[in-house]
Amino acid sequence: MAGGKFTVTAALPYANGPLHLGHIAGVYLPADIFARFLRLNGDDVVFICGSDEHGAAITLRAKKEGITPKEIVDKYYTLISNSFQSFGITFDMFHRTSEELHHQTSQEFFLKLYNSNKFIEETTDQYFDADFNQFLADRYITGTCPKCNYDNAYGDQCEKCGSDLSPLDLINPLSTLSGKRPVLKSTSHWYLPMDKHETWLKEYIQNGVLDGEVHHNPKLWRNQVTGQCMSWINGGLKPRAMTRDLDWGVKVPLPIADGKVLYVWLDAPIGYISATKAWAEANNKDWRQYWVKEHAENRRLVHFIGKDNIVFHAIIFPILLKDHGDFILPENVPASEFLNLEGDKFSTSRNWAVWLHEYLETYPGKEDELKYVLTSIAPESKDSEFTWKEFQARINNELADVLGNFVNRTLVLTHKYYEGVVPNKVDLNDIDLILIEDLTKFPGKIADLIYAYKFREAQAEVMNLARIGNKYLADQEPWKVIKTDPQRVQTVINLSLQITANLSLFLLPFLPKTAKKLQQMLGIQLNDWTVGGSSELITEGTQINQPEILFSKIEDSLVEFEVNKLKSTDKHSTMVEAQKETVSFDDFSKMDIRLGTIIFAQKVQKADKLLQLTVDIGIDQRTIVSGIAEHYSPEEVIGKTVAVLLNLAPRKIRGIESQGMILMAENESGELSFMSPEKAFSAGGEIR
Ligand code: 2FM
Ligand code: ZN
Repeated sequence: MAGGKFTVTAALPYANGPLHLGHIAGVYLPADIFARFLRLNGDDVVFICGSDEHGAAITLRAKKEGITPKEIVDKYYTLISNSFQSFGITFDMFHRTSEELHHQTSQEFFLKLYNSNKFIEETTDQYFDADFNQFLADRYITGTCPKCNYDNAYGDQCEKCGSDLSPLDLINPLSTLSGKRPVLKSTSHWYLPMDKHETWLKEYIQNGVLDGEVHHNPKLWRNQVTGQCMSWINGGLKPRAMTRDLDWGVKVPLPIADGKVLYVWLDAPIGYISATKAWAEANNKDWRQYWVKEHAENRRLVHFIGKDNIVFHAIIFPILLKDHGDFILPENVPASEFLNLEGDKFSTSRNWAVWLHEYLETYPGKEDELKYVLTSIAPESKDSEFTWKEFQARINNELADVLGNFVNRTLVLTHKYYEGVVPNKVDLNDIDLILIEDLTKFPGKIADLIYAYKFREAQAEVMNLARIGNKYLADQEPWKVIKTDPQRVQTVINLSLQITANLSLFLLPFLPKTAKKLQQMLGIQLNDWTVGGSSELITEGTQINQPEILFSKIEDSLVEFEVNKLKSTDKHSTMVEAQKETVSFDDFSKMDIRLGTIIFAQKVQKADKLLQLTVDIGIDQRTIVSGIAEHYSPEEVIGKTVAVLLNLAPRKIRGIESQGMILMAENESGELSFMSPEKAFSAGGEIR
C-alpha cells in the first residue's frame, strides 16, 4: 500500500485562545498519527496547519481582552504553535492566515471565481449596530435558533443543533457589541450559490463520484460526516455570502468593495494552500504537486477537523475548489465528534477545560501518556469523555502493567541470563511458530486501520501485541525453565526481543518518544514500517542497553489535584455572567469608592427588600437605600464598615433620596455579603 501521495491538513485553530484536550483528541493527534504513519510507510506526505487569524472569533476576543486583533493573534499564534511543538505534533508547516502570502493567495482565489461569474452580487438588508457603526454577521449577532430554540445561537451557526444559519433566521437577534436589538441597513455582498451545486455534491459525498469518475471510497467517510452533509443538502442549500463588512481580514480585491473583507470561512481553508506554498518555498518543492490537479495526479487530500467544521470542509470548500477548477477535492474529511470532560462539555468561557500548555508545563516528559489516553478515548464515531480517573487507569493498567511490564521483563531477563546480548533461537516449537506467524500480520492490520482512520483500534492492536508478548512469557516461564532447559530460554528471550523490537516500530506513530526510547534501549534504529512483522528485527549478538522504566504509575493525588483544580477554577454558575466589557483605567478611577460605617439602619415601609441606612463615610454622613433587607436585619448591619460607591448619581427610591450604593458580593446560591476590610480600617478609607 505504500507509495501513496497525501496532502494532509488539520483544521486551522483560531488564534483566539489556547488549545484544550478536546481539540487535540479530535483533530491534531489523529492527524499527527496519520502523518507520522504515512512517512514511516514511505508515502509522500505534506502535513499542513496554521492559525486562523481572521473573523469575528478574533475581533470579539480582542475587544474582550481590551487589546488589538493583531496583539491577540500574535499572542495566541505563539502559544498555540509552541504547544504543538512541545507536544510533538509534526506539521511540515504551521502557517498564519495573517501572512501576506495568504492574503495574496486568497485574493487570487476570490478573483478567479469572481471573474468566472461564480458569485452572485446581491444588495440586501443586513443587521447593523448603530452604536458601533458596524454590520453584524456571524458571531457579532446572537439570538434564538429557529430550529432547536437554543437561545444563544450565532448568526452563522447554532452550536447546539449544528444548523447552518444566517443572521436573519435568528429569533430575537441581539448585537454582541452593544447587547441591543440591531436595525436593518442595506449592503452589497458576493454570494456563493450553493443551491446550484446540490446534484454533484450528492454524487460526490454519497457515492464518491466526481465528474462521472470514481473519486474515493465513500464507505471510508465517517457516518456522521456523510449524515450531516446529506441532511444539509436534503434540507436545501442556500446562497451564502462570501464577503463581510469588517475591517479585519483579507480585503476584497475589488475597487468597489472598500471596507469589505473575505468571509473567514472563505479565506481559512485557502490557508491550507498558502501554508503549502510557504512550506514548498522553504523546502525547494513545487506546491502545485500537492494541490493542482494537473500536477497532483493521484494525490489524496485529507482534512482532519472537528464536527462543527463539517459543512465548511465537506460542502463549501469542495464547491469553491470545484468552481476554481484547478484544484483537487478532498478524498476524505475525517471529522471527530466531541470530547467531554468530567461529565460536562469543554467550555472555554467557563474554564471547564484541560489546557494543553498547562498539561505540558505541569507534566513535562509525559506527552506520550497523554497521547495514549487521548487516542484510546478518541471521539471518532461518537462523543466520548476524558476523566482524570481514566487517565490514571489507562496509564497504570495498560501502559505500565501491559506494555511497560512486558518490555521490562524481556530486557531484564536478557541482562540476567545473557549479559544483555541477544541470544539466538534454537528449535522453534509450535507455539513459537504461531507467534512468528501472528507477528507477521500486525503491520498490515495496523496499517489498514490507520488508512481507514480508525486510530483507536489501530493503537489497541499495538497493545494487543504487548499482551501477546506478556502471555508468551507467562506461558513459557523462562525463569523456571532456565534451570532445566537453558536452550529453550534462548528462544523465548529472542522471540520476546523480536516482539519488543516490533513494538518499538509500531509505537512510532502513536507514542513516538516511547518508541525512540525503546529503540535506544534495544540499540536499534527502525523507521521503516515495511520491515515490521519480522522475527529477525533485532539480530543475534546485538548488545542491548540497560532497561529504564518506560511509564511510572500515576498516583491518586494527581487525580485529586487535577479534579480539584478543575472544580475550583470553574466559572460556571447561573449568576456569573461572561466578563464584562473592558474599561479604561481612567473610567475606573472616576468611581469614588470608600469605606463607610453604617451608623443607623431601618426597614423601608412597604418594601420587603429595602433598608434605609445612614452611612458615615469620613467626609460626611449620608443616606443610602440598599436592597439587602432579605439578607440582613437592621440590627445586624449597624456598626459594619463596608465598601460604598459615593459618586453614583443620587436616586429617589420609595421617596427617599439614596446618595450612593453599598457594594455587595453574591455567591452561587444568591446569598449576599458586604465587602468589608480585612483589617480594622475606619470610615473614609479609599478603595482603588
Ligand atoms: O473552528 C475553527 O477553529 C476554525 N478556525 C477552523 C478553520 S479550519 C480551516 F478551514 F481553516
Ligand atoms: Zn439550533
